[in-house]
Amino acid sequence: MLPKTGVEPLVIRGECQILLPSLETWQIILPDASSTLQLGEDLTRTCVCPAILLLDGNLGAGKTTCVQGIARAAGITGPVTSPTFALIQEYPEGDPALVHIDLYRLAPEAVRELWLEEFWEQQVLVAIEWAERLRYLPEDYLRLQLQFWDPEGRRAMFEATGPRSAAWLARLARHYC
Ligand SMILES: Nc1ncnc2c1ncn2[C@@H]1O[C@H](COP(=O)(O)OP(=O)(O)OP(=O)(O)O)[C@@H](O)[C@H]1O
Ligand SMILES: [Mg+2]
Repeated sequence: MLPKTGVEPLVIRGECQILLPSLETWQIILPDASSTLQLGEDLTRTCVCPAILLLDGNLGAGKTTCVQGIARAAGITGPVTSPTFALIQEYPEGDPALVHIDLYRLAPEAVRELWLEEFWEQQVLVAIEWAERLRYLPEDYLRLQLQFWDPEGRRAMFEATGPRSAAWLARLARHYC
């Protein structure tokens, strides 16, 4: 079945047509940067705060591009770049409010000192690049792993870790059914 947004679903575990109340894993191929942006927009449209998205993937895999899509759908007009130097960028004006974090340059001990746990329960969407550097994980988060995929696209692999993120993932996947 053709997806509504032009992004090709690769694997959908479970019956998409039944509109699952929750989904643990889901993968999709993103053939170009605009489909990564679109995925970000869809993540915003389907999230219920507090919502935590942990993004992993090699340098240039598309993590910031996805967050740019998230910001766009949240109505954030300012530039969204990799907050490598600022570490934490907050966009309280967004709907939902967005917190964008990049842990690339941090050693695990320094990550611990950021006290990111304070964000877990807030009414915001938190998106964290290089989340593999986190020492203390939230209880219920959506993990997005981006991989380079032949010839020039990316593969997005999602994993939900609890009921909230599983429901979020199901709502997201529904956009592509
Ligand atoms: N699905 C895609 N297919 C092809 N190119 C893409 C795709 N998604 C993003 N890109 C491109 O990949 C490049 C790197 O993207 P981006 O900066 O978002 O990666 P990143 O994972 O945040 O990198 P870093 O690890 O440096 O933070 C950009 O030029 C972007 O347009
Ligand atoms: Mg980045």
